[in-house]
Amino acid sequence: MIAQSKIEEIIQAAPIEQVIGDIVRLKRAGANMQGLCPFHQEKTPSFSVSISKGIFKCFGCGKAGNVVNFLMEYEGLGYIEALKQLAERFSVEWPQFEQVNQEQESQLKNEKESLQILNNWAGTFFEKNIWELEEGKLIGLSYFEERGFREDIIKKFKLGYAPDQWTAFYDEALSNQYNEQVLISSGLVKKSDQGKVYDAYRGRVIFPILGATGKLIAFAGRQLKKDEKSPKYVNSPETILYHKSNELYGLFYAKNAIRKDDFVYLVEGYTDVISLHQSGVENVVASSGTSLTEQQIKLIKRHTENVVVLYDGDAAGIKASLRGIDMLLEQGLNVRVVLFPDGEDPDSYAQKMGSEAFSAYLKNEVKDFILFKIHLLLKESAGDPLKKAQVTKDIVNSISKIPDSIKRMAFVKEAASLLQMNEQLLITELNKTRKDFLTSKEKEWVKEEPLPVIVEQIQGLVQEKGSLAQEQHLIKLLIQNAHIELVDTQSFVKVFFDMVANAQIGFENETMLLLVEEIHQFYLSNTPITVELFTMHANPIISGFAANVLTERYQISNAWEDRFDIIPDSEDKVVKRDIESALLYLQLHNNRKLMTETLESIKKAIEMNNEEEIRLNMEIYQALKQRESQLSSDKGLVVFE
Ligand code: CTP
Ligand code: MN
Repeated sequence: MIAQSKIEEIIQAAPIEQVIGDIVRLKRAGANMQGLCPFHQEKTPSFSVSISKGIFKCFGCGKAGNVVNFLMEYEGLGYIEALKQLAERFSVEWPQFEQVNQEQESQLKNEKESLQILNNWAGTFFEKNIWELEEGKLIGLSYFEERGFREDIIKKFKLGYAPDQWTAFYDEALSNQYNEQVLISSGLVKKSDQGKVYDAYRGRVIFPILGATGKLIAFAGRQLKKDEKSPKYVNSPETILYHKSNELYGLFYAKNAIRKDDFVYLVEGYTDVISLHQSGVENVVASSGTSLTEQQIKLIKRHTENVVVLYDGDAAGIKASLRGIDMLLEQGLNVRVVLFPDGEDPDSYAQKMGSEAFSAYLKNEVKDFILFKIHLLLKESAGDPLKKAQVTKDIVNSISKIPDSIKRMAFVKEAASLLQMNEQLLITELNKTRKDFLTSKEKEWVKEEPLPVIVEQIQGLVQEKGSLAQEQHLIKLLIQNAHIELVDTQSFVKVFFDMVANAQIGFENETMLLLVEEIHQFYLSNTPITVELFTMHANPIISGFAANVLTERYQISNAWEDRFDIIPDSEDKVVKRDIESALLYLQLHNNRKLMTETLESIKKAIEMNNEEEIRLNMEIYQALKQRESQLSSDKGLVVFE
């Protein structure tokens, strides 16, 4: 057992914002810090860290606890393991004669821990070779020096050297009591078909690979001379500590700088990362040669939404990575690029130019990705109309990946002018492409069912979610009367999107959300909104809905007549009244939802005995309540249930 006093000592020595800050990008929000929850998927931050109380809590998924709980949950550690890790990191002395019970003992000896211990030891072995072993100094150190790596940088990245002998590492490991099984599972040694065990990294310089929290999880070994017969890099296999597709080389060293600059440079190789550091650019990570995975992009997103991709200057390489970049756009990241002269990569160019000129180059040459792509493709297709059509498709495809419709439209505008094309034409093309973005359920319909059946199913869906009938009603009204003048001669569509922007109204139904987004695109491009735009829409979900709308020119929802006793007037007046009511209904609904959520938060805060949180939420609740009565009394309406 670990004494309670020891536990307290460790927790007090470990700043929660620092430990969590390694993993989550935290921003100050009042007395607390806030970020995207690492335990569930979310777009708006509901993960909160209280520095003064030393606790975290996610208001989205409900996970909460102190710094130890966080590590246990995030790293999948046991209680003792987590405490021990914190004690080591924050220099708290670990009790020498700890009495460990059976369960804890097996935890300590579990595979993960033994592999970690081995990796740490191996890292030291390789690093020592470069500074203390004659062969290491002569071959390893001088290799790095010839490449222009400074001593402090070699030390910072803990670079090393593996002797050019079959079992130098293996023998040393055995004499240090590491067992063969762990050695083989680590990938540091290999077993031949004849059963002979030998070093995997012989005669190579070593790049240790650290996880996001700074643990040594894998190794890469680079060959010293070009030798086609063996691979340029030997990399650790997948192990319980290392999942290549989840890691970004250099992230641990880059985190603080990324947070400070709010963007990250993305490069290909280990040496690019190292050379950039040497040039004073520290917000850099490498994908390690392969195209980015979704997990890696999510990892980036925890720290920043802005990526600058650094390209080698060869045309084939650029074209190959264009596709990977669409993935970044798809995940909502803002992407810019810097292109290097032909034959140069970030490492060679940084070495050649020197720190200052190199930093200036990065700053001056950075271009927005979409515009960069347009320029690149246009250059290739100059004068060839067939190719230009292909380029247009390609560009529209990239733009269609951007989730934010406002950004999307801004790029359409720029692309139209660069491609010298009609904007509306691009929008039409964009809409065609975006129909690939339907939800899987929608896709099923589209694939399998003829249109009339789809329409029926949409109606069915709307009925099934009866409480959302008002959303549907409002969208119908909007499509039919977008340009009708409401208060102060403002058009309905303007009033509508102002309210959406101010979060006064919201939509829960996926189909309605899709429609709101479509209407928004038309609104932004000043396209007059007519029912036909929708009945002829390429997306059958949208055209189906519009067809449905057309079957009833307009119809005041009975609910409104019953509830609020609306007396029919001239048609125009009735429509306006109907719009007003529908908007009001959704505002009240929205407000009610917030009130319910706030009540939930109050309950949780009471459970956690968090006075500050209780008081804050009570205030919010009062404000919402006031808003509710204001909304209803303004219009002389009763509060709905
Ligand atoms: N890579 C790899 N295995 C290889 C070749 C490349 O794992 N056989 C990965 C490494 O992560 C490498 C990255 O791809 O860092 C980029 O490859 P490359 O540009 O060839 O290597 P650099 O690290 O840039 O090395 P150098 O500058 O010495 O060419
Ligand atoms: Mn390279």
